[in-house]
Amino acid sequence: MQAIIEGIQASQQVTGRSGAAHRLHSAIDPEEGLFLERIVSSDPSVKRTLEVGCAYGLSSLHICKALQRRPGAKHTILDPFQNSQWDGAGIRNLEEAGVDYFEWIEELSEIALPRLMEEQEGRYDLVFVDGWHTLDHTLLDCFYATRLLRPGGYLVVDDIVLPPVRKALQYIAQYPCYRTFSTLSGKQSPTLRLRLLRALAGALPAQSRGSLLHPDLEHRLFGDRTVRMLALQKVSADTRNWDWYPSRF
Ligand SMILES: C[S@@+](CC[C@H](N)C(=O)[O-])C[C@H]1O[C@@H](n2cnc3c(N)ncnc32)[C@H](O)[C@@H]1O
Repeated sequence: MQAIIEGIQASQQVTGRSGAAHRLHSAIDPEEGLFLERIVSSDPSVKRTLEVGCAYGLSSLHICKALQRRPGAKHTILDPFQNSQWDGAGIRNLEEAGVDYFEWIEELSEIALPRLMEEQEGRYDLVFVDGWHTLDHTLLDCFYATRLLRPGGYLVVDDIVLPPVRKALQYIAQYPCYRTFSTLSGKQSPTLRLRLLRALAGALPAQSRGSLLHPDLEHRLFGDRTVRMLALQKVSADTRNWDWYPSRF
């Protein structure tokens, strides 16, 4: 599996189900992949994993690599757009890597997660959230993830640098059932920086776009936002009362 991951990272390309080649984008980078892999590898009790957002399959490959040869391992992927937007490349990569311990649910997380919870509450060992990055979607994904995780399990979230994701996690991370297990900090990938700048350019009136070239902007946008990935461990059941509210929010 490592050879497939390295091949994709080296070529920055994937092949879809249609046979077409696609430029890699939106994927976790090798450092983030290793961060994810290490959490799974370091705890042999992690067997049932769930992922929101597969895209070209890089995070799925890293998780499945760490689960390899673990008895009872099963990785569940939620991605409604795997075929329509990603040409099935994520699933194709897993099949090519010989992974036969995954299932893919072609549904929006906001539909699939509450349904999964009906039967699987407290039965997952790790949930990785990397789907639709709005504040409300991230909150929903993490809310259901918390219910799906057993005490001792892990919630890992990508793209903490994005303001809505960051805001959602400032709230979720204060649930008394969580402790911060690990964080990955450091410079964001140039691709994500470019995406943020493009999104900002689109939101600004044409005459103000020149301000995006201001030398301080890089620092103001990214300077103090160094946490890229966050892993929380659920250390107890979530027993918050109806009137719970975090002290800092
Ligand atoms: C940033 S990409 C995921 C990248 C992937 N984890 C990786 O590292 O290779 C976001 C993914 O979320 C999926 N997505 C978007 N909206 C979603 C939703 N409502 N529910 C589940 N997945 C969603 C997209 O189809 C896309 O695959």
